[in-house]
Amino acid sequence: MTEQHQHVYPVREEFAANAWIDNEKYLAMYQQSVDDPQSFWAEQARRLDWVKPPNQIKNVSFASNNVDIRWFEDGELNACANCLDRHLETRGEQPAIIWEGDEPSDSKTLTYRELHEGTSRLANALKSLGVKKGDTVTLYMPMIPEAAMAMLACARIGAIHSVVFGGFSPDALAQRVVDAQSKLVITADESVRGGKQVPLKDNVDSALTREGTEVVDNVLVVKRTGGDIDWHDGRDIWYHEVVDKQSNDCPAEPMNAEDPLFVLYTSGSTGKPKGLKHTTGGYLLHAAMTHQYVFDYKDGEVYWCSADVGWVTGHSYIVYGPLANGATTLMFEGVPSYPTHGRLGEIIDKHQVSILYTSPTAVRALMAHGDHVMDSSSRKSLRLLGSVGEPINPEAWEWFYRVIGNEQCPIVDTWWQTETGGIMISPLPGAIDLKPGSATRPFFGVRPALVDNEGHILEGATDGNLVILDSWPGQARSIWNNHERFVQTYFSTYEGMYFTGDGCRRDEDGYYWITGRVDDVLNVSGHRMGTAEIESSLVAHDAVAEAAVVGYPHDIKGQGIYIYVTLTDGVEPSDDLKKELTQWVRKDIGPIASPDVIQWADGLPKTRSGKIMRRILRKIAANEVDGLGDTSTLADPSVVEDLIENRVNC
Ligand code: WT7
Repeated sequence: MTEQHQHVYPVREEFAANAWIDNEKYLAMYQQSVDDPQSFWAEQARRLDWVKPPNQIKNVSFASNNVDIRWFEDGELNACANCLDRHLETRGEQPAIIWEGDEPSDSKTLTYRELHEGTSRLANALKSLGVKKGDTVTLYMPMIPEAAMAMLACARIGAIHSVVFGGFSPDALAQRVVDAQSKLVITADESVRGGKQVPLKDNVDSALTREGTEVVDNVLVVKRTGGDIDWHDGRDIWYHEVVDKQSNDCPAEPMNAEDPLFVLYTSGSTGKPKGLKHTTGGYLLHAAMTHQYVFDYKDGEVYWCSADVGWVTGHSYIVYGPLANGATTLMFEGVPSYPTHGRLGEIIDKHQVSILYTSPTAVRALMAHGDHVMDSSSRKSLRLLGSVGEPINPEAWEWFYRVIGNEQCPIVDTWWQTETGGIMISPLPGAIDLKPGSATRPFFGVRPALVDNEGHILEGATDGNLVILDSWPGQARSIWNNHERFVQTYFSTYEGMYFTGDGCRRDEDGYYWITGRVDDVLNVSGHRMGTAEIESSLVAHDAVAEAAVVGYPHDIKGQGIYIYVTLTDGVEPSDDLKKELTQWVRKDIGPIASPDVIQWADGLPKTRSGKIMRRILRKIAANEVDGLGDTSTLADPSVVEDLIENRVNC
């Protein structure tokens, strides 16, 4: 990508004139935020409602022998009260959530007052089921308002939610329930996406037969479809039966700023998924502030983030950020391609959406169908577009801008991670000229740097590993039950710095261009997956002796999953076996981990010490076989020739 030849989209004057932050303000505030974080964040913290305002602002150590991250540690607040109660007087009758169902005929609106009532009743119901402050509750839910209410109800009583994406398998769910030790699971009978039912309750039933899940006392079930489900008396409870009879008065529990708000599992390069622990004060401040400034959110606008609440994007930018700001947040149950590819635009017109925040994958999938998919809508209400989850290629960026945004809307390409809690690098649309494919400049308080493999900080225009030099309020504080792994994963690669796992380039203008993961993490359609997770699933199959998983460039998904499998002695390769292994992984992890390509391999390229040389496997999968680089350390070079010869076209 040569940005010299690239189009720059300057900030429009009319936009800057009405924006919260213009260029001058960005530069001044950014400078203050890094020069004097204590006073900057003390001032910003006032945007929240505190039961006890904090005097201690920032207390952080990134030293690998003592990673300790605290923000506002003597302050007290409640996240749910910040999202609901404080808006009742000024905007009680304003829509808080606009819900758009899977079927276009199915939608409803909840005002702040209604959301507050429903959440308070549910919070009382949780209490009646014995959920206490500090307990964890696992949510495995469709994209329905009850999912937001469940998160907020937990926050209201000081319980810690752990949302598990509804596309994960029973095993993946069980693993997360056990790790978090949840006594309660909240789910629905079924979810509906793209006209198809997903058997959520059935999945919970089978998850709860797994070892260690006896910790679960109750399953609270929302009736979404009325579909047929099994019922376990004494354990299962209908949501409506217990919630409807509760009082709508439930005082919000004052929480310390550093009390956990939620745990959210994500994949890393090794081992099992890790539960990132996010706390109350700093997280909420970061989510709210970025939501206002990055999306330039103005009172009364309809804002739509098309993510699922099962991911961090849904936490920060469907629920906490927008609601803390008193915004109207649109929640969509379905998929952009159902009933037709025009749906996304039709939803924008129907609800007069001003701001759309979506993924490069969604954009590329629509783009593949051609410009005419947008013919059924005008999208005149749009003012701003956002992208998240993976690098957006300039071609998709341009299409997003031209076709979806009618050349009227700036695009904010927002780089961040589950670990960062909120947006870290992104244009502020009234302040920063846009370059398609670049996440541009850091948000307030964020100090990115690029380092070489030895951890030396690199200056000027260069490529490098992306690190963050100092803490920001929304940062995850630890890995649930495993602080050592937290330190190991993020703070031991480069001493004194937070390592993101991403590679990045900085250009002459100081713009950041994220190039993708430099570790063994895949990003498939914006979903993050560890190659190790998929490999350990495969080798658990009797037919598999060894497996290696790599990503390869995929036109729509960004990355596809390419698998090399060595079969156990006596097992014959066949298409049926490929299908079986595909089903195996889907069942083990979930449909998002479906292999795109399986190649049978007699052997895998290894060093003499037995380490698989993934660099080579990645090159073969990407069909870059002329540039394999140094192969002199290979134990058996003939393995590589064999793999090249039998490469599967994709
Ligand atoms: C990884 C984090 C951020 C919430 C959703 C994903 C990649 C994310 C961008 C972007 C290039 C991006 C990175 C990052 N990523 N946003 N705008 N440009 N890459 O959160 O599942 O924790 O994944 O997604 O590789 O490390 P996540």
